[in-house]
Amino acid sequence: MDGNGRWAQSQGRERIFGHLNGVEAVRASLKAATACGVKYLTLYAFSTENWNRPKDEVEALMTLLVHTIMSELDELDKNEVRLSTIGDFDSLPENCKVELRKGMERTAHHSRINLILALSYSSRREITEAVRKMVSENISPEKISPDLISQYLGTAGIPDPGLLIRTSGEIRISNFLLWQIAYAELYFTETLWPDFGEEDFFAAILDYQNRERRFGLTSAQISSSEPSSHEKTKSGGAL
Ligand code: IPE
Ligand code: MG
Repeated sequence: MDGNGRWAQSQGRERIFGHLNGVEAVRASLKAATACGVKYLTLYAFSTENWNRPKDEVEALMTLLVHTIMSELDELDKNEVRLSTIGDFDSLPENCKVELRKGMERTAHHSRINLILALSYSSRREITEAVRKMVSENISPEKISPDLISQYLGTAGIPDPGLLIRTSGEIRISNFLLWQIAYAELYFTETLWPDFGEEDFFAAILDYQNRERRFGLTSAQISSSEPSSHEKTKSGGAL
């Protein structure tokens, strides 16, 4: 979710005004994702590196997070959204942790869509933590496999993303789900996050559905395969 600061500054406003307006884009994307049958929507809301922003901006973002969870929780519950987080949960301010825990407990039984907030998240840190944990459990080297590594990440149990969207014209990954996006389709748009609406989300999904996902195979292999396995390589399935 990138471009909040530039969106605000282009109107001569403070950066936080952009963050405030970014909440509407979160609502729109969640609504559009739910309508499309997306089962997992992960939002990169705050990176480990974002802690180094000016103190005022960090505080404002954390306050916005608390207020948004408080004000949206009824709606999330009503829409059967299951809320969870990835990232360094312990590093968040106490009031954020309290509201997030409340939100996660209240929505734990839902399964229409999983809304995963990446908070104080860094992929390299997540991988480092996973290695640390594996070593501390004395896992023998021959047992280490890609699947096992996945199970030690914060995203354990969550399928790898099919599609990654980045707004605001920046064409980079910025330490997000590096392991998990091995075969994700990447979608970049110039639209700044506060302007990103339902139509923009649908446009990204349409683009994704027209991609041929080969997973290392050749195009001929994909088109000559049985309809059932062919379907697996088309993007139209679960994201
Ligand atoms: C993304 O918008 C929101 C967060 C990182 C929390 P930015 O704040 O990065 O906006 P730009 O990139 O400065 O425009
Ligand atoms: Mg940015």
